[in-house]
Amino acid sequence: MKIPDEIKNSGAETAIVLGSGLGPFAESLEHDFSIGYGAIEGLPASGVPGHAGRFIVARLAGKPILVAQGRVHLYEGWSAHEVVRHVQLMHAAGIKKLLLTNAAGTVNKSFEPGTWMVISDHINLTGHSPLRGGPNFIDMSQVYSPRIRSVFRKAAAEKNIKLHEGVYAAMPGPQFETPAEIRMLQTLGADAVGMSTVAEATQARLLGMEVAGFSCLTNWGAGLSDAALAHEDVTAVGKAAAGQMVELLHAAFPLV
Ligand code: HPA
Repeated sequence: MKIPDEIKNSGAETAIVLGSGLGPFAESLEHDFSIGYGAIEGLPASGVPGHAGRFIVARLAGKPILVAQGRVHLYEGWSAHEVVRHVQLMHAAGIKKLLLTNAAGTVNKSFEPGTWMVISDHINLTGHSPLRGGPNFIDMSQVYSPRIRSVFRKAAAEKNIKLHEGVYAAMPGPQFETPAEIRMLQTLGADAVGMSTVAEATQARLLGMEVAGFSCLTNWGAGLSDAALAHEDVTAVGKAAAGQMVELLHAAFPLV
């Protein structure tokens, strides 16, 4: 995988991966450089609406930041190894802190859609690991940085933005869950459910990166409301809530 010089020489130490519908965050930044995933040999490119795939070198609060707008998913048929290639690229380019965002369904009845949850831990129910194939017995007792979580909690309190904190369960998808599966996830101790993030977080921890994760809670998990789930609704709520994350990032980024 050849890393573009503009990324390698950007000086960025922090990167953010933008999930479904969170693309508008990228538009709020001053871009220095951008390149489509398809133009980087060995990097898989997504075909899912709302997941335009590109890297952007931008500036936030005067500091360089690398933005990965869009990701690929297991449910598209990519392997866990392919799903984390952009994480490997970012690490090779000097990124030390990785902020992962996603859209997720609410499993915890007191976490209302339209709000954000900072991930405290995860449950990997995808059946896949990007570390398969080697003796990668890494410690997973603290995947999500308590330091970065605390920075964001403080920023949220200052900005008067509600920020839940909880456990993210990753399901393989692409179908949404059944009501019985949502009840199972409640029993397991999950607060939110999605179809991404855990492979990237796992790969990043193997590489020694400091990781944080943020779920945009776009809908009630199946069976928790009468509404049927639709990808378009997930994307629309993500867009509406993106503004809150833009504000949070502007406040928190200088301290991350
Ligand atoms: N389930 C799984 N993934 C999701 C959901 C959901 O309800 N909403 C957004 N991504």
